[in-house]
Formats: sequence, C-alpha cells, structure tokens
Amino acid sequence: MPETDTLPTKNAIVQLPDGQTIELPVVVGSENEKALDISKLRSQTGYITLDPGFVNTGSCQSGITYLDGEKGILRYRGIPIEQLAEKSSFVEVAYLLIYGHLPNSKEWERFSYLLTRHAMLHEDMKHFFESFSSQAHPMAILSAMVASLSAYYSEASGVASLETFDLNAVRLISKIRTLAAFSYKKSIGQPFIYPLDSLSYCANFLRMMFAVPAEDYEIDPELVSVINLLLILHADHEQNCSTSTVRVVGSSRANMYGSVSAGILALWGPLHGGANQQVIQMLEHIQADGGNADKFIEMAKDKDSGFRLMGFGHRVYKNYDPRAKVIKTACDRVLEKLGIHDPMLDIAKKLEERALSDDYFKERKLYPNVDFYSGIIYRALGIPTNMFTVMFTLGRLPGWLAQWKEMMEDPKQRISRPRQIYTGSNEINYVPMEQRG
Ligand code: ACO
Repeated sequence: MPETDTLPTKNAIVQLPDGQTIELPVVVGSENEKALDISKLRSQTGYITLDPGFVNTGSCQSGITYLDGEKGILRYRGIPIEQLAEKSSFVEVAYLLIYGHLPNSKEWERFSYLLTRHAMLHEDMKHFFESFSSQAHPMAILSAMVASLSAYYSEASGVASLETFDLNAVRLISKIRTLAAFSYKKSIGQPFIYPLDSLSYCANFLRMMFAVPAEDYEIDPELVSVINLLLILHADHEQNCSTSTVRVVGSSRANMYGSVSAGILALWGPLHGGANQQVIQMLEHIQADGGNADKFIEMAKDKDSGFRLMGFGHRVYKNYDPRAKVIKTACDRVLEKLGIHDPMLDIAKKLEERALSDDYFKERKLYPNVDFYSGIIYRALGIPTNMFTVMFTLGRLPGWLAQWKEMMEDPKQRISRPRQIYTGSNEINYVPMEQRG
C-alpha cells in the first residue's frame, strides 16, 4: 500500500466535443500535486486520453520519492537528498527506500549481515561469463546475469512473490555488485576476485573491481565515501523510464529478477542512464576537436546536426537537477584530493557556463542533469567508461525494488496495459499471392 493513499477531494467536470460531460475525481497528493482520475473515462464516454511518452500521465500513487522539477527538490521517503548525501550510507538509503523508514540499529545490523552473507554467486554462474564475447558491453552482461539469477533463486514457477521479497531483495542488492565487478574483470581478462565478508558494501565492490591476486589491495576510505555518495544520489527517481519498466514488467507478476533485468536494459539507453557514458565520450570528442565549447553549443541548438548536449535537459527538472549540484561540488573536492587535473572537467564547466547563459537553453529550461558530472568522478576513481551505466544500475537497484514491492502491495494495482488510437488501414480483404501486383 502506498503511504500517501490520498482520497479524491472534489470532482472536475469535463465537457466533451460530442456534448457529453463527465465528472472526474480529483486526486491530491501529500505535497498538493493534483491529478484527474480518468480510469472510468472510456467506459462512461468512449474517449481515452492520448499522451505519447507519458509526459502528463501518472501511472500510480507512490509514497517513496518526491520530486519537484520546477523547484529542484528531491526527497526519499520525505528526507531531502542533500541530507542523505551528507549523512547517510548507500545501504541505509537502500533500507529507507525499501522499508519506508531509516533502520534502527537492530534492523541495520540484520540488513548489513544479510547483504554480506549473500555476496557470493552460485559457482555455476561463473561459467556464464566465459561465454560472453570480451567485447560485450557490461550492461548486456549484467542484464543477462540478473535474469539468470531467477533460474537459481526465484520460486520454481518464476512467479513473483511478496513472501520471499526480503530474501530475494538482499540477494539481488548483494549479488549485483559481485556480478558488476565480475563483468568488468571478464572484459579486461583478469581473474575474478571473490567478495570479502569483513568489508562494507562499497569497499567490497572496489576490491572486487580493482584487486588482483598477485598484489595487496589497500582500500582508500575516500574512494569508498565517494562511491557511497554516487550510489545514494542515483538510488531512486520516482517513475522514470527504467523504474516504469520494472513496474510494467512486474505488473504481469513476472518475478523480481526478470523485472529488474528489463529495467537494466531500459536504463542502458543513451537518453536515460546510458547518458553518463555518452557525456564522457562527448567531452573527449570536444577535446580532440580542439576544445571549442561554443562550437558544440551551436551544434546542440541546430536540430539538423543530430547532436544533443548529453547530460543536459530532463523530462521533469526545469531547474538545476539537485543531484547534479551535489555531484558537481563533489567532483571538485574528489579531483583535488586525488591530485587529478582532468581537462574534461574544464570542458564540462565551460559547456555548462555557455549553455546556462544561452537563450536556447534558458527558454527550454535545460540544465545539467545527474549524468553531466558523474562520469568525471568515475574516471577519477579509475572506473572505465563502459562501466558508468553499471554504476548507475547499482545505485538505482534499491529504488526499483522499493517500487516493485510497493506495486505488489497495492490492492488497486492491475496489469499495465495502455490503449492506443489506431491509425492504420480500415478493413480490407486478404489478397492471394498470385493476385498481388
Ligand atoms: N541538447 C539540446 N537540445 C535539447 C536537449 C539537449 N540535451 N534536451 C532537450 N533539448 C531540446 C529539444 O530539442 C526540444 O527542443 P524543441 O522544443 O525546440 O523541439 C526541447 O529541448 C525539449 O526536449 P524534449 O526532447 O522534447 O524533452 P524530453 O522531456 O522528451 O527529453 C531528455 C528529456 C531525453 C532527457 C532530453 O533532454 C535529452 O535528450 N537530453 C540528453 C540526454 C540525457 O542527458 N539524458 C539523461 C537524462 S537524466 C536520466 O535519465 C538519468
């Protein structure tokens, strides 16, 4: 059940072109967001609503994440993202998103213990990695491996179950980190490094990524805290493309692993989470081209160029993305601490400055989004470009699981099945092959 299961207040009267009128219930959320409930519109009038890309369509009521794109506000379970970024850890945020409150010390210990216990993969799964091409993108591997987990850990029928949610959720949050690190090791031809129970979630991940059996690996607490920060900032973002995918797939009662695997593929797209990889590739391209930010700003404004400023613009934010604000500040701090001067950061800042003072971007309210600066930090940590979207996936997983659980617990939830307005041919007869022109 969503926490904010608000009751309709008063009805809206809608006049239709054929003279019909209908009363539509108004639903008001806890932050005074208003919606018209159109669920009876077709059965009562014959009309449906048409909203390609779901620009103006609410698909559910949710008590998990609040976001105000006009004011640049983002809160998980009511807590501002800035506070969580400063004070919390990724594991705590995962618990908060999934269970709706910050864990007390007992809950925290239990959750951390379970995450530690479930870090290893079934040994047989290691063989899967050998079958992938060394050129395979880690997102392709990760999605396939997460789907494969349902062959090991879900119910025999593969059908979703809330009874086993807690166990499957910790399994997935824990194992996805091992799968991500193994995908990377596979791509560079190094042996897999097994998880170590004594390490925290993020430290364990860094070790599995960067340790080699022949050498000692020292964990840098600064890197651990940056990974924590980045994962927290990515942990949920209400009904975005990949989260909606997880909900749509899960709405058929497909199991959690299958639903998340579909979400991973949705996230991979360059207009969504894949943008973080695209941003660095764009910055490298600009640098190789001589570093002229103005030229690329002009290209981004020219619709015929086919070029978009990656990491800029957002469906919901019409203000600075609050996550980008935190990441930009962290970027300066991390690079300074690590003693790195990255020319990509200079180019990114130049692009941002030019864009924010340009009428094209101002009129369309296009600001840097979460992906604009995150790649520069990942680079500084030594994470290769093709792993950036994998990092996003590790962060977003608790959000997907929280949304999947909320959907499964919602008694009003039904299978997702949008309608359409058909624009094809009217009825015509089948023509046998010999009579076709
Ligand atoms: N560069 C140049 N112009 C842009 C950009 C951009 N990055 N983003 C939007 N615009 C322009 C569009 O051309 C359009 O102009 P028009 O009104 O003259 O036709 C207008 O701004 C509105 O853009 P839409 O594409 O209609 O906005 P939509 O909400 O559908 O798309 C999206 C949002 C996909 C994020 C878009 O801004 C974009 O492609 N950005 C670059 C990719 C990116 O950074 N994606 C990551 C988003 S954050 C995330 O998913 C984690």
